[in-house]
Amino acid sequence: MELEVLRRAPLFASIGDDAFALLTKELTEVNLTRGSSLFKEGDQGDQLYFILSGKIKLGRRAPDGRENLLAILGPGEIFGEMALFDPSPRTATATAVSETRLVGLKHENLRDVLQTRPEVSTQLLQALARRLRRTNESLADLVFSDVPGRVAKALLDLADRFGRPAQDGVLVPHELTQEELAQLVGASRETVNKALAEFVQRGWLRLEARAVVILDLNRLRGRSR
Ligand code: CMP
Repeated sequence: MELEVLRRAPLFASIGDDAFALLTKELTEVNLTRGSSLFKEGDQGDQLYFILSGKIKLGRRAPDGRENLLAILGPGEIFGEMALFDPSPRTATATAVSETRLVGLKHENLRDVLQTRPEVSTQLLQALARRLRRTNESLADLVFSDVPGRVAKALLDLADRFGRPAQDGVLVPHELTQEELAQLVGASRETVNKALAEFVQRGWLRLEARAVVILDLNRLRGRSR
């Protein structure tokens, strides 16, 4: 397994070999296929997860069955740490949106490392602050932006994290169905389809299977504000 990937992650890059050995002494390796869940909202959990490759969606389900996606996470990102700081059941369901490889680290071992390595705490706090900032932004967008604006913003965010240059623009292999994209922006699939069709018609995007190619970043950026 690529322990070096974990070793080089910003969260762990600064710790010494002893602390790293302690942290990884009960490591579990997990391979998920698209659609399989790692844990469900309400489960008990004593591990956090680091994504080696692939993508994970974090979602919540309303009593009437509707789903909302809190985030899509990719390589190098961690999740499942909340119970470490505030013991309580899992706050979201974690499901793979593509073939995904992860490592699980025991909360207990990370807690031991945090006692002696304040720099790891700083990194974790930074990750939590970043997540709060992103969540606040989504909340404000739900109130202040229309659906096309939120779709544009979500695509730009996915492009930032997963995009790569293509011949005619930026390829964003987000791996999401239109239903999942709708759950991510908090709108119906029909409204999201309409927004995507409008962007395509204007020449800002090209749709591909579970991917888009952004052809006009500036216009899309303008629409996201
Ligand atoms: P935990 O509650 O253990 O399990 C679900 C995980 O989803 C949670 O820890 C966090 O790591 C992650 N999570 C919860 N809310 C958000 C959010 N708003 N943005 C990104 N990740 C989140």
